[in-house]
Amino acid sequence: MSSKGHPQFEVQPGAKLCGTLRVPGDKSISHRALMLGAIAEGVTDISGFLGGEDTLATVAAFRTMGVRIERTGDRVVVHGAGLHGLKAPAGPLNLGNSGTSMRLLTGLLAGQKFDTTLVGDESLSKRPMRRVVEPLSQMGARIDTTPAGTAPLYIHGDRKLAGIDYEMPVASAQVKSCLLLAGLYASGVTTITEPAPSRDHTERMLKTFGVGIDVDGIRVSIHGGQQLRAAPITVPADISSAAFFMVGAAITPGSDVTLKDVGVNPTRTGIIDILKTMGADLRLLNERTAGGEPVADIRVRGGALCGIRIDERLVPSAIDEFPAIFIAAAAASGETVLTGAAELRVKESDRIAVMAEGLQRLGIDAQPLADGMRIMGKGGDGAAIFNGGEIDSHGDHRVAMSFAIAALRAAAPIKIRDCANVATSFPGFVECAQAAGLAIRGQP
Ligand code: S3P
Repeated sequence: MSSKGHPQFEVQPGAKLCGTLRVPGDKSISHRALMLGAIAEGVTDISGFLGGEDTLATVAAFRTMGVRIERTGDRVVVHGAGLHGLKAPAGPLNLGNSGTSMRLLTGLLAGQKFDTTLVGDESLSKRPMRRVVEPLSQMGARIDTTPAGTAPLYIHGDRKLAGIDYEMPVASAQVKSCLLLAGLYASGVTTITEPAPSRDHTERMLKTFGVGIDVDGIRVSIHGGQQLRAAPITVPADISSAAFFMVGAAITPGSDVTLKDVGVNPTRTGIIDILKTMGADLRLLNERTAGGEPVADIRVRGGALCGIRIDERLVPSAIDEFPAIFIAAAAASGETVLTGAAELRVKESDRIAVMAEGLQRLGIDAQPLADGMRIMGKGGDGAAIFNGGEIDSHGDHRVAMSFAIAALRAAAPIKIRDCANVATSFPGFVECAQAAGLAIRGQP
């Protein structure tokens, strides 16, 4: 799944980030537009679609189940098959590196007449799937996993699902969305309560597709059997991809970057709150709503940051941005402490262990905690923060891009291995970063 990515990055120190950029479309919203479009009545026209390997894995899965999907650049047209129109796939559906594809599709497929097998790459095959399999089983689904509760998942079809009232142990939009999709195929009402609000793109998009859904703070309910009506979807630029440039500009004096059309859904803007608390010069411009989602341009200028204790309530809304935030913390003056983020250990890599290892290798005092990290920042006087050296991203796209940005404040070049998976979420990262001024080269 990684043929288009650059296996290694080499980044020279000493650059600044400047100019106006538009990063690719939001990954979470692109997945959901495909999934809801596939089971809707009518034709869903998606603009701004992310053509990354993760979302293309979702495209391939639905094509295998008989859905006609046309893609031209970032425009995708999905010919909906209706709630009960998917066809049995001829073989296992390979979802590559994509946790969102696997967890959301498990819910959607638990309600079909046919059996399906879901497989993934080495990283995805290690990620916990009991968090979706257990509540789906309570709804009446039958799903086999490995003894460790991981993929391959074998989903038995022709099961009668019934709504449940489920309290989620961890805030997870993937689990919540999985159960909402299963809830469409269940009798009665499915209600989900989260310990804290996670991203709400599924709820918003279901409403756009004409589905009645009750949202009451951290509680959401859906009635089974509702038809979805196709609707045009505009996908904003992904704040999780913009985050690398926000951090890169914030840590580098003289930088001045404007990121266009970024999704600023309040369930995703923890990175903005955290960088502002650290003292970043960050402004939202031209705030508006597009396709049911809040959108803005974000201007960030370089300056001095200070270390903070990160408010645990911000963890779900910044969950994918911590690799980049750790780079900002290293470049700040004083200590930054993150706790309450044990979920980072079960992402595409163990992001606490992998980021601590990389930061230490670059000369940073970073102490991994069971549920977070303590980082002693080296910032203060504009001098180099990071030693040069070689980093292993452990195949994690966001780790690779975070260390690329660190080179802006390094004393010597940073080389990053195992970067091919950057293409899962940010195809064209190298070119986009070069356009902003980063001295980065992709290498074979
Ligand atoms: C996602 C939810 C988050 C996030 C992931 C995308 C989604 O995962 O980390 O990158 O699209 O629903 P969790 O639900 O595991 O927190």
